[in-house]
Amino acid sequence: MQRTLVKDALNATAPSDAILLQGWVRTRRESKAFSFVELNDGSSLKGMQIVVDATLPDYPQVARANTGASIEVHGKLVESKGAGQKWEVVATGFKVLGEADNSYPLQKKGHTLEFLREIAHLRPRSNLFGAVFRVRSRLAYAVHQFFQNKDFHYVHAPIITASDAEGAGEMFRVTTLDLANPPKTEDGKHVDDAKDFFGKKSFLTVSGQLEAEIFACALSNVYTFGPTFRAENSNTSRHAAEFWMIEPEVAFCDIHGNMALAEEFVKYLIRDAKEHCAADLEFFSKFVDKDLLARLDFVLEKPFVRCSYTEAIEILEKSGKQFEHPVAWGANLQAEHERYLTEEHFKCPTTVYNYPRAIKAFYMRANDGCAPGRETVAAMDLLVPGIGEIIGGSQREERLEKLREGMALHHLEEKPYWWYLDLRRYGSVPHSGFGLGFERMLMFVTGVGNIRDVIPFARTPGTADF
Ligand code: 4AD
Ligand code: MG
Repeated sequence: MQRTLVKDALNATAPSDAILLQGWVRTRRESKAFSFVELNDGSSLKGMQIVVDATLPDYPQVARANTGASIEVHGKLVESKGAGQKWEVVATGFKVLGEADNSYPLQKKGHTLEFLREIAHLRPRSNLFGAVFRVRSRLAYAVHQFFQNKDFHYVHAPIITASDAEGAGEMFRVTTLDLANPPKTEDGKHVDDAKDFFGKKSFLTVSGQLEAEIFACALSNVYTFGPTFRAENSNTSRHAAEFWMIEPEVAFCDIHGNMALAEEFVKYLIRDAKEHCAADLEFFSKFVDKDLLARLDFVLEKPFVRCSYTEAIEILEKSGKQFEHPVAWGANLQAEHERYLTEEHFKCPTTVYNYPRAIKAFYMRANDGCAPGRETVAAMDLLVPGIGEIIGGSQREERLEKLREGMALHHLEEKPYWWYLDLRRYGSVPHSGFGLGFERMLMFVTGVGNIRDVIPFARTPGTADF
């Protein structure tokens, strides 16, 4: 007999004489004549109430069905007499597949998120994490839908790479050399990287952008969606050493088209979550962030604010606020500045664009006609209330000489980037793209405040368990 998912059983339009459910016990209550078992199989937030008559031959099994045990139930789907659910299943067969004794850590009581992180192998069975990971799965699907519907091609950027896409030197080294006894160069002074697995130093990628640019300059519209890695020692609620990024790259597109695409994309994902994960979002708004649903509606209704970096600095200077990090033209915006702009000043998602050239990546397009000492690039960051930056992007420098200038400015050697420079030698076109941090987007959509709780297994400084 075929298994029915709880989600489908809960949405049934008619009773059924024979149904098979499989899942895990959340709770069990006993009365004289019956036991009531709540079965959850992860297909929905809500479980199915199973009613087991004490006269059923399988009834002795019920005593073994503790919280956390896995069970298999044959029964009839009938309209529930109890309040709180439309349907329930009256068991005709009840079997415990795997017991769980009372050492099972997810007993029915409130646990802290910190504790649940320590049991990341069990936390998907809790209401909160079941909901988070259903939303995560759905939005991953929506990412593909959004771009595929727009005729973007999905490119798999490599995970192991020899080039630093951001030029920021925050890369994890990949090596098979014996670290205790590495091969040395002839003069005996240095490690001989030529003897390493790839014949040169290699790393985990920080971004698939440069490879996406290669493909945009051939297939026009592309996107990547994959894991990226940053060896930055930032112990914050918004940074992970391994995170997933979506990076569209569009040929024949400038910074304005790029900002419009970013806004459309973020709104699409929110709308999709509202439509397909309504029960889970309602749960978050009840137990995680009471303003969540109102905020998401607000974000969908309003056009995002667009504000140049120079305007942002003026706003911050005039704010009268005492920031921990001083505000000055040329300095990077810190989290506190970003939050002031989106949460207090504009009270709306805000795209800041045209940042100082010196603080942004080498590949961003130099703006023409800047005043001396005020050189900017066509960079853009999308900032949202509660989180700050969720998207970083730019128009790319398509002019060979300007790109070389940018690399020199950032003290980057040209040689390893020869192929990237080639794109400017052969059929160069204006092009733009951005990266959306998938976990930051999930934090925004669920209201969950820590990045460790929207990724199945968080990798952060000092932690790589599971
Ligand atoms: O601003 P970033 O560093 O931009 C890039 O990597 C570009 N190559 C993207 C592009 O233009 N194709 O990162 C993009 C986004 C950030 O806005 C943030 O949402 C996320 O990636 N991100 C992180 N998320 C979690 N943990 C970290 N350590 C992150 N670093 C960046
Ligand atoms: Mg950034």
